[in-house]
Amino acid sequence: MKGKFITLEGGEGSGKSVAAKHLKKLLEKKGKKVMLTHEPGGTVVADKIRKIILHENREKLADRAELFLFLASRAQHMEQKIIPALKRGENVICDRFNGSTFAYQAFARKVADLAFMKKMDKFVRWDVDPDLILYLDADPKIGLARRKGDKSKKLTRIDKEKLDFHKKVRSGFNKLLKSEKNWVKINSNKSINEVYNQIDEVINRKVR
Ligand SMILES: Nc1ncnc2c1ncn2[C@@H]1O[C@H](COP(=O)(O)OP(=O)(O)OP(=O)(O)O)[C@@H](O)[C@H]1O
Ligand SMILES: [Mg+2]
Repeated sequence: MKGKFITLEGGEGSGKSVAAKHLKKLLEKKGKKVMLTHEPGGTVVADKIRKIILHENREKLADRAELFLFLASRAQHMEQKIIPALKRGENVICDRFNGSTFAYQAFARKVADLAFMKKMDKFVRWDVDPDLILYLDADPKIGLARRKGDKSKKLTRIDKEKLDFHKKVRSGFNKLLKSEKNWVKINSNKSINEVYNQIDEVINRKVR
């Protein structure tokens, strides 16, 4: 792949979306062509899958169905959008990616064991790995308060999970940070400007 693939991970309201926009500007200043996208969704079909995942349905979404919907969305997104952009030499920033599947579906929901999930994830992303994973670590209480304060967005089915669930997600992300390659932690309990400074430091060090 010619382009760099950078993903942002973190819990609800940890600041991934504001960080993604900042990162796009930063890379563009370095003269790079950047495509910013997000999961779940990112293509017409994947966005339809996103709606099923995030919206309240009259019937409970089975945990195993939820896992496969995330994976289906990723397969669509990789084939239709991310891989073609990387091949064209563009840098791709993806707001949430496979780290979220592992933190939420493996560590918090315990739908299936990590090894099984990793195998399926590798398959749907055609073995294409992110070059850098920026993990925005925030106390879930802080993140959820930010989410609630953001009146432009309605809370989703997943935001509304209990605090204990969000704590398990955070602990899952921290386990991934220790065990996986290319993960960098950003302390996002700090102000937006302090978060931006941490991102600048990592990018200046890792991307030329
Ligand atoms: N470091 C910060 N300090 C204070 N407010 C912040 C910080 N980072 C983000 N915010 C604000 O918190 C809200 C949530 O941020 P953002 O949408 O970037 O989070 P997110 O991680 O993308 O959330 P979600 O998981 O729901 O997509 C926004 O209103 C944003 O402006
Ligand atoms: Mg977001």
